Amino acid sequence: MSSIRTDKLSKSYHLGSVEVPVLHDISLDIGEGEQIALVGPSGVGKSTLLHLLGALDRPTSGEVEIDGQAVSSLTSDQLAEIRNRKIGFVFQFHHLLPEFTALENVLMPARLNGDGESPKIVQRAKSLLDSVGLSHRMNHRPGELSGGECQRVALARAMINSPKILLCDEPSGNLDGDAAKAVHDLLLKLSREESTTLIVATHNREFAADLGWILRLHGGSVTSDKG
Ligand SMILES: Nc1ncnc2c1ncn2[C@@H]1O[C@H](COP(=O)(O)OP(=O)(O)OP(=O)(O)O)[C@@H](O)[C@H]1O
Ligand SMILES: [Mg+2]
Repeated sequence: MSSIRTDKLSKSYHLGSVEVPVLHDISLDIGEGEQIALVGPSGVGKSTLLHLLGALDRPTSGEVEIDGQAVSSLTSDQLAEIRNRKIGFVFQFHHLLPEFTALENVLMPARLNGDGESPKIVQRAKSLLDSVGLSHRMNHRPGELSGGECQRVALARAMINSPKILLCDEPSGNLDGDAAKAVHDLLLKLSREESTTLIVATHNREFAADLGWILRLHGGSVTSDKG
């Protein structure tokens, strides 16, 4: 079964009476565990497409299916459940909660499920922080961490509920060379280890080339370059 399918997905924004078309009739069939780069110039619609794939926004027409379920058929409670359990998000800015430690931030999505205190999940959070090289920083708050460290905490947080799909929007956009490379390598490693489908909007050509499949957006459409 594919993890995400889109059928003639289109999105326009409306600014007053003016229609701003962004995506037009995009049909994709993304299998489990694929590692995909979403590339294209600024303003082409990468973030828009990621938001639709993650059911954070609704299309103007067309459909997104996540694990065989049509997103348009879901109630808002079901959508919230899918977003929290099946999908992980990493954005350009880490959006960690400043008053909580790294460990507490990683546990936050599990707490939302009422599952944040179980020894098993706390162990998973520690082990994810270890995987991203931060076992010695678990009790630090975001203000006591570097930008690259915060982004690695955000990556561990995105993985805590073992999502089937990890969506990343320029996850290294705020980082310089080495810190960016560390985030790229960790995304590849963690998604491979957990067979998570990975879709990353990125302007970084080297990282895009490391992913198995490049989706290039232009003029509202997508061309596919599967390696
Ligand atoms: N809420 C909105 N209302 C109106 N227009 C919008 C809205 N959000 C995005 N757009 C427009 O949609 C187009 C696509 O935006 P999007 O953010 O998806 O681009 P992007 O490819 O992610 O760009 P970047 O590489 O700069 O992040 C842009 O022209 C943008 O101005
Ligand atoms: Mg964007």
